Amino acid sequence: MPSLNDIRTRFLDYYKSEGHEIVSSSPLVPRNDPTLMFANSGMVQFKNLFTGAESRDYSRATSAQKCVRAGGKHNDLDNVGYTARHHTFFEMLGNFSFGDYFKDDAINYAWNMVTRELGINKDKLVVTVYHDDDEAAAIWKKVAGLSDDKIIRIATDDNFWMMGSTGPCGPSSEIFYDHGDHIWGGPPGSPEEDGDRFVEIWNLVFMQYEQFEDGSRSPLPNQSIDTGMGIERVAALLQGTNDNYATDLIRALIEASANATSTDPDGPGKTHHRVIADHLRSTSFLIADGVMPSNDGRGYVLRRIMRRAMRHVHLLGAQDPLMHRLVPSLVGQMGAAYPELGQAQALIEETLRLEETRFKQTLERGLRLLDDELDGLAEGTDLPGQAAFKLYDTYGFPLDLTQDALREKGRGVDSDGFDEAMAEQKAKARAAWSGSGETVDATIWLDIADRDGATDFLGYDTETAEAQITAIVKHGAEIKSATVGDTVQIVVNQTPFYGESGGQVGDTGVVHADGLSARVTDTRKTAGVFIHIAEITKGTFEVGTAVELNVDPTRRSQIRANHSATHLLHEALRQSLGDHVAQRGSLNAPDRLRFDFSHGKALSLEQLQSVEAEVNAYIRQNTGVETRIMTPDDARELGAQALFGEKYGDEVRVVSMGAQPNSGRGSLGNTYSLELCGGTHVGRTGDIGAFVMLGDSASSSGVRRIEALSGQAAMDYLRTQDGRLAEVASVLKTPAADAPARVKALMDERKALANEVAQLRRELAVSGGGQTDAPAAEDVNGTKFLAQVVSGVTGKDLPALVDDYKAQIGSGAVLLIADAGGKAAVAAGVTADKAEAVSAVDLVRAAVAELGGKGGGGRPDMAQGGGASADNADAAIAAAKAVL
Ligand code: ALA
Repeated sequence: MPSLNDIRTRFLDYYKSEGHEIVSSSPLVPRNDPTLMFANSGMVQFKNLFTGAESRDYSRATSAQKCVRAGGKHNDLDNVGYTARHHTFFEMLGNFSFGDYFKDDAINYAWNMVTRELGINKDKLVVTVYHDDDEAAAIWKKVAGLSDDKIIRIATDDNFWMMGSTGPCGPSSEIFYDHGDHIWGGPPGSPEEDGDRFVEIWNLVFMQYEQFEDGSRSPLPNQSIDTGMGIERVAALLQGTNDNYATDLIRALIEASANATSTDPDGPGKTHHRVIADHLRSTSFLIADGVMPSNDGRGYVLRRIMRRAMRHVHLLGAQDPLMHRLVPSLVGQMGAAYPELGQAQALIEETLRLEETRFKQTLERGLRLLDDELDGLAEGTDLPGQAAFKLYDTYGFPLDLTQDALREKGRGVDSDGFDEAMAEQKAKARAAWSGSGETVDATIWLDIADRDGATDFLGYDTETAEAQITAIVKHGAEIKSATVGDTVQIVVNQTPFYGESGGQVGDTGVVHADGLSARVTDTRKTAGVFIHIAEITKGTFEVGTAVELNVDPTRRSQIRANHSATHLLHEALRQSLGDHVAQRGSLNAPDRLRFDFSHGKALSLEQLQSVEAEVNAYIRQNTGVETRIMTPDDARELGAQALFGEKYGDEVRVVSMGAQPNSGRGSLGNTYSLELCGGTHVGRTGDIGAFVMLGDSASSSGVRRIEALSGQAAMDYLRTQDGRLAEVASVLKTPAADAPARVKALMDERKALANEVAQLRRELAVSGGGQTDAPAAEDVNGTKFLAQVVSGVTGKDLPALVDDYKAQIGSGAVLLIADAGGKAAVAAGVTADKAEAVSAVDLVRAAVAELGGKGGGGRPDMAQGGGASADNADAAIAAAKAVL
């Protein structure tokens, strides 16, 4: 009896032997489709190969694809647990031809696979074809030798497959297995077809068209093949059951659930175990693919599935959170085929545990409220919308959880009433927002958010995604289209572009499609709406158009490195300077990072160096960067750094990196850095590359600012600095290592020489350039007066010269005029014994006035001034003399 894992291997190996490339499952969140919520079949990742928009070096492929059908066109959530063959998560085995083989080979391969490789009894099989597909019917007859009554023609959409409302599509042919007449049901197309007797196991789609938004279809460039086999259904029949939940893999999960709750897997809790096993798979795989529980979009689908499972856990009577304890069983079953599951195991467990712990707090009270509400209701009437809304709003019950709970009681919910209550609450929230002082401009984004919901941000996991334009805004108003030369704001349903927030700048890049291109110069975020500021460079963009968005990858990776480096810097500062260090602002741009933090004084060189060294040590540690969702309180309890004064919602994203023994982070053990953060980060700290601090300065009172570089920019900076040092060393003609000592020696030498030169200048000036005798002093009114015009000295040298002369004459006044290249400098000095009688300041002022200058000042014994030229030196000397 082959296990589910055996079947997967057999399938892939068979198609490999037929020349198919084995391609890994794509992530559950499709990057290449503008409208799909989750990968819902194997062909999703190949969509662009069918349409010819992309080509690869293979034209036939095979895969085992993770699929989730819990939202959008294909949604099986409500049936899970209640039927034998519905799942929110399942695996689809498929083979694909991209313009290579078509119907003939596809049917041949499928028949071989089913009857030969898997050994399924041919007599148990019937097939369907699209009603007008004579070709497929003839091939089945030839290949399988099936009688006409076993080739059933179906005219409905059941045999025309479409991925979603747009994309590649075509008629299909399905293979059904008859489990036997002991089970109720009839063949496809019969009134009893919904019974469990005839089960579809494989769908072969003959891809021929591409469907567009307006409903029109055009032929694909090449006829292609897309097939999908539900591995769980095939496993069931090969294991002798018609119940997917009885197959080895899922049964193991059910038993894990039963063991953990000490309950009977097949007893009264049977449905609960089935729901738990199914939901464990979808939630774990979604988390592994980067979806986090939230109140919007994909995150909300995840939350709905998680909470739905948790109600069933509760109904089993479990006191403590259960889901996370089942993850090891799942990893044991599926970790080998899907390594991402094992890699994300800790994150999955923790996300489930936190969600279940939190939801437990309101689940019981909510269920009590529900019971009270039902007590007062007449048999069979629906739960009023208001009550369902209260359960949603106050107790965190997703609507489908309430519906699931009521289903057992044979009741529904008044969903119109629920929608009304929801709309009312939105209107209130809106009024509160308008009153909060936000700019008027914000109301347009609120309108868009109300109408289309928040933009789903995919940029944590990808830099490229397809999306649909939901709004174009120009000059504050919505427009239908925009063309070349326009600068507009573009809104899409999902985006990889980060909208500026939390200090991280917005992404730039391109938005394009066939014949369309726009340059995104910035991205902002308001009311959950991501606003792409774009200059249209080609074509006309219209609301509704599907486009591809590409973030500038180099710039983004620089931003990422800087942002992660900022977190390490924050923690290094805190550990080095103390717990008072708190973030006061930050900038994470592509070319640099800036971090403002509370700290009273400048950092010493030693502190700067040790902080820088610590950050680099954690970069080299190269541990994984992890993200979790938790309540702000839980985060603070674990010691997460939050932004002072920031308002946080019910839930926060917490980013952790680095391992430090005994870091005291509670359940997060050795985590070094732990911060509330919505930004994008490196995968491992080693991706930051390097970290260099440019310095520390005062930003405002009590706040310091550090600017730094990381990655290539840090290396470039170091290279430039090193180049400068090499240049210095080469000029000094010394090895770089000796350069500092050499420079110091030169500085000392220079200082000594400068003193010597000054001394020599003075001597030269006094000697008059060859005259050796000092000028003679004359007696003016009983005061010795010595005056001279000197050259070759500057104003700075004059005071020392004046002093020399004062010493020579012993008593009296000295006036020196320096002829300094088109300007004149004047200095006067009076010996102490004459200081009462004569002021040097008066002498200088009198002289300066004659030299075309103004003022002059100093002390009575020494004063200085300047003039325009020394031409009138004689008159100046005479004027000074007159003062005496
Ligand atoms: N894409 C086809 C399906 O999902 C094979 O059924």
